[in-house]
Amino acid sequence: EQIRKGNFEHFMQKEIHEQPDSLTMTMRGRLIRGGEQKAKGILLGGLKDHLKTMRRSRRILFIGCGTSYNAALAARPVVEELSGIPVTMEIASDLLDRQGPIYREDTAIFVSQSGETADTLQALEYAKSNGALCVGITNTVGSAIARGTHCGIHLNAGCEIGVASTKAYTSQIAVIVMLALALGDDSLSTQQRPNAIMDNLYNLPSKVRDVLKLDKDMKELAALLMDEQSLLVFGRGYNYATALECALKVKEVSLMHAEGIVAGEMKHGPLALVDETLPIIVIATRDASLNKQQSVIQQLKARKGRLIVMCTEGDAEFMCPDRTCRIIEVPKVHDCLQPIINIVPLQLLAYHLTVFRGFNVDQPRNLAKSVTTQ
Ligand code: AGP
Repeated sequence: EQIRKGNFEHFMQKEIHEQPDSLTMTMRGRLIRGGEQKAKGILLGGLKDHLKTMRRSRRILFIGCGTSYNAALAARPVVEELSGIPVTMEIASDLLDRQGPIYREDTAIFVSQSGETADTLQALEYAKSNGALCVGITNTVGSAIARGTHCGIHLNAGCEIGVASTKAYTSQIAVIVMLALALGDDSLSTQQRPNAIMDNLYNLPSKVRDVLKLDKDMKELAALLMDEQSLLVFGRGYNYATALECALKVKEVSLMHAEGIVAGEMKHGPLALVDETLPIIVIATRDASLNKQQSVIQQLKARKGRLIVMCTEGDAEFMCPDRTCRIIEVPKVHDCLQPIINIVPLQLLAYHLTVFRGFNVDQPRNLAKSVTTQ
């Protein structure tokens, strides 16, 4: 086991640091190069006979649990934008509880690292019986979800052992962004924005390598927060999912209460919690919602909130001119890929918090890697 962990103390730590490689593997052979090292197109072999049907769908549903659900949520905006098809999000157990309507004209996409999660698998049977086209995104070749879907995309992220999913999350987002590009159009190469996204996908592993350099800073931050009872995380737009995923990671391994909140909802309740003691992470990297996040920061400051602001490199002064916030500066990538960069320091934070608090990193209390019972 020690050998497989290499130089790392825990599998979670190893898997966080593996992300430049796991992302490279996920994209290998799928991003097609044009001239001058520019991206030209997307090749998703597992979908080739089904893309046309998917493009004609009335709706796309993403179905999953936990981190896999969060990954789909992170990529939802770019799927909507590039495909023009309405996208709905379903937590597998909730879809089953409601027996929500699914139609023949729907494409249901099942996202699961293990491919064996009972709730997701049962939702797959349900969607199939309703006649939807079922697509699997899993990290496990030959898993029940991979076998049971009509077509799919394998993550190729490599075996994930830590109960807390880390590298599968970033690979899931990368795969769904590639799916959005593939759904977009056959003539992607004529469009500026898809081309920019593809070029950014190429550079993503090296940007993830850069952001991993924040390890020491995140360890320091974890030392500061280790005795706290609770942590709030505010995100919006592309990074609403980042807030949820950060809170999930912190909860499940460090056993600290954490809550991910869509920032637009702050004034509808969570604002009452804000005081000078409760630590709050605000994700405010550059994208179309930057101004709104700045105003959130101002409102939190006005209530003496104890802020940790994640911003784009070079924006520290601009985001917090009075220097009262702790800052996490991250490299800038295309807006739809920014969640992949932003989650990495937050995974590191969850990891270091767990070590400081003395809990089992790879086998958190009461949890199993794959939840095969309902
Ligand atoms: C992730 O850190 C969790 N352990 C958990 O939420 C997990 O993502 C969920 O159980 C879904 O698992 P799956 O991706 O294997 O379907």
